[in-house]
Amino acid sequence: MIINTKKYIEEFLKIKTKDSEIIPFKLNKPQLKLYDLLKRQSEAGKPQRVIILKARQMGFSTLTEAILFKRTATKANVNSGIIAHKDDATTNLFNMSKLFLEELPEQLKPKTKASNAKEIIFDDRDGNGLRSKVKCMTAGGDGIGRSDTFQNLHLSEVSSWTHAKEILDGLLQAVPNKPNTLIIIESTAKGYDYFKELWDKACDGENDFEPLFCAWWELDEYRLPCGELELTEEEQELKALYNLDNEQIAWRRWCIRNNCGNDVNTFKQEYPSCPEEAFLASGECIFDKDIIVSQIGFHIFF
Ligand SMILES: Nc1ncnc2c1ncn2[C@@H]1O[C@H](COP(=O)(O)OP(=O)(O)O)[C@@H](O)[C@H]1O
Ligand SMILES: [Mg+2]
Repeated sequence: MIINTKKYIEEFLKIKTKDSEIIPFKLNKPQLKLYDLLKRQSEAGKPQRVIILKARQMGFSTLTEAILFKRTATKANVNSGIIAHKDDATTNLFNMSKLFLEELPEQLKPKTKASNAKEIIFDDRDGNGLRSKVKCMTAGGDGIGRSDTFQNLHLSEVSSWTHAKEILDGLLQAVPNKPNTLIIIESTAKGYDYFKELWDKACDGENDFEPLFCAWWELDEYRLPCGELELTEEEQELKALYNLDNEQIAWRRWCIRNNCGNDVNTFKQEYPSCPEEAFLASGECIFDKDIIVSQIGFHIFF
């Protein structure tokens, strides 16, 4: 039986929300954007390759884990790898997959073999099951991914990986260049690093990853109820440029004050409105930001 991925996810998978509630997984707008892009690549018969530059907490890891889970739990001989920047992030991503399995209707649960590592093996003791697995690893661990072949890879928060180039050089060889394979690289920006190099190459068509940018205001929940607001000049420009409402501006103010140490440049990096802003906001840029902004002809507010 072939099951449409979105239908499988929305009918059978559950997630834990930011308020620790377990709810059925209904895709939000940023997730639909990624889903549609992957669907297009798949329908074109291409290997699925996406690099995502994003604001924080949009739901990209959750959707990627769900897609990997569906592909692994419904097909034989599939290896999926999930790599995060540090152990607690790896555990967090692994817990999403564990929850998908726990909450899956009994009749859809494949046989699983117990495992001590951070992996779910869909198989039975005699090796007569699916022989598929989801394996979670931390970037920087010894020989990560070197002994495996993966059909699906999720590389999470790549800007926070130390030795990102060496690790990626090893991992990307582990995925065959075949239509039914998937690699998703996602990160928030952290200045001029290897993730930015990959992003720029994707934008210039110098690699086969399709770039996907997602601004903070694309997530409906980044809003705060508010009364009348007196907007600053910068806020008025933002509002006009991206067609924002006052509740979004109120949320931006709250987030800058409370989550970004009152530093608007931190907000621009963690919650960018456009790719240029995401990378330029970081203090590591060695060029004059105003000159760069005027050269690329994009108005950015400092
Ligand atoms: N469609 C959704 N509906 C409600 N909550 C969601 C949805 N997708 C993700 N979340 C929640 O949002 C939080 C951030 O998701 P995550 O996938 O880690 O985001 P990202 O990888 O973009 O930073 C998680 O707590 C997750 O459970
Ligand atoms: Mg993530």
